[in-house]
Amino acid sequence: MIKIAIVGTGGMASSHVKNFTEIPGCRISAICDVDEPKAVDFAAKNELKVPIFRSFSELLEKADCDAVSNVTPDAYHSALSIDAIAAGKHVLCEKPLATCYADAKKMADEAKQKGVINMVNFSYRNSPAIHKAAQLIASGKIGVVKHLDACYLQSWLSSNGWGNWRSDDKWLWRLSTAHGSGGVLGDVGVHLLDFATYPVGQVKNVHCRLKNFEKAPGNQIGEYKLDANDSAIITVEYENGCIGIIHTSRYATGYKNCLQLRIFGDEGAIRIDLDDAYDTLDICTGKDRHEAVWKTVKCRKTPNIYKRFVNSIKKGENDQPDFARGAAIQKILDACIESDQTDSTIQI
Ligand SMILES: NC(=O)c1ccc[n+]([C@@H]2O[C@H](COP(=O)([O-])OP(=O)(O)OC[C@H]3O[C@@H](n4cnc5c(N)ncnc54)[C@H](O)[C@@H]3O)[C@@H](O)[C@H]2O)c1
Repeated sequence: MIKIAIVGTGGMASSHVKNFTEIPGCRISAICDVDEPKAVDFAAKNELKVPIFRSFSELLEKADCDAVSNVTPDAYHSALSIDAIAAGKHVLCEKPLATCYADAKKMADEAKQKGVINMVNFSYRNSPAIHKAAQLIASGKIGVVKHLDACYLQSWLSSNGWGNWRSDDKWLWRLSTAHGSGGVLGDVGVHLLDFATYPVGQVKNVHCRLKNFEKAPGNQIGEYKLDANDSAIITVEYENGCIGIIHTSRYATGYKNCLQLRIFGDEGAIRIDLDDAYDTLDICTGKDRHEAVWKTVKCRKTPNIYKRFVNSIKKGENDQPDFARGAAIQKILDACIESDQTDSTIQI
């Protein structure tokens, strides 16, 4: 039995509980939140009869667990994961891995040194389509990759589709750099950068424009200064020569949570739209490319990250995406911020 402790019992933690409890031979053994009444409520809602801790160090000391799932806000990913690693626990950490490359690298280094399983929840890797795209590109099915465009579009700043961001802490911390948020870039741009680089390869350089919009008087609501970026546009050049445009916004009215990727090679192209399906992609290749005909390919099922994490613990072999991958993406995020601040192209 693999025993998992959950730290941070907010919105995303329910998904961790649901997914881990569906895995045979795995159970939740403890939970922790600095907001204890919230953790008590969470335990009741998720039918968890487990010890509840307000202090994570106390959990590490007293709880019976093999692994920790870190579902706290971004600002706490690094410190809490490093404490868990030091205690010899395997760690699944939410994205972004940290709030800067130096912290993310430290996490990756310490996990490696301690020999614990470490994974970052780039959850769109659960899409079979992205793995099939990676295979097709590696096999040369679309020729030499030349160009791509990728977007992650949300609209929670221009709709109430995800609740009221003006009054809910879980949205307000995402708008505030002082609360550890990297804005839309750090929140979902991080998914998009993983998605747009995993099948194509290493990024060589980026040029990025970030925009923070005025959303409240003085861009301040209570303790939250609303200064994190709301829209990001990145031009990228890959090591293999491909160039691309990657963009994301929380003001993409009409799109609740849309992730799209199109990759163009000199002998074919692939497109993925996760709003259409997670397990299909479209391809235009061979003779079809002369008539611009697209065919839909059904992709083989992929175990989700929770299963891959538990399997990694059982086998003692780290699956992807690991902390080193999380740190590599963090390096690109840092470069995007530097690029915006200096209006220059940053080499990775
Ligand atoms: N992979 C995905 O697709 C995905 C989706 C949503 C959120 N996330 C990530 O999950 C994380 C949590 O997001 P959320 O929406 O659940 O946030 P949330 O604000 O709803 O919940 C975070 C919880 O952590 C608690 N917390 C804060 N500091 C703590 C500490 N030091 N120790 C223990 N508990 C602490 C808070 O009290 C809160 O209950 C974020 O990093 C976010 O980026 C990932």
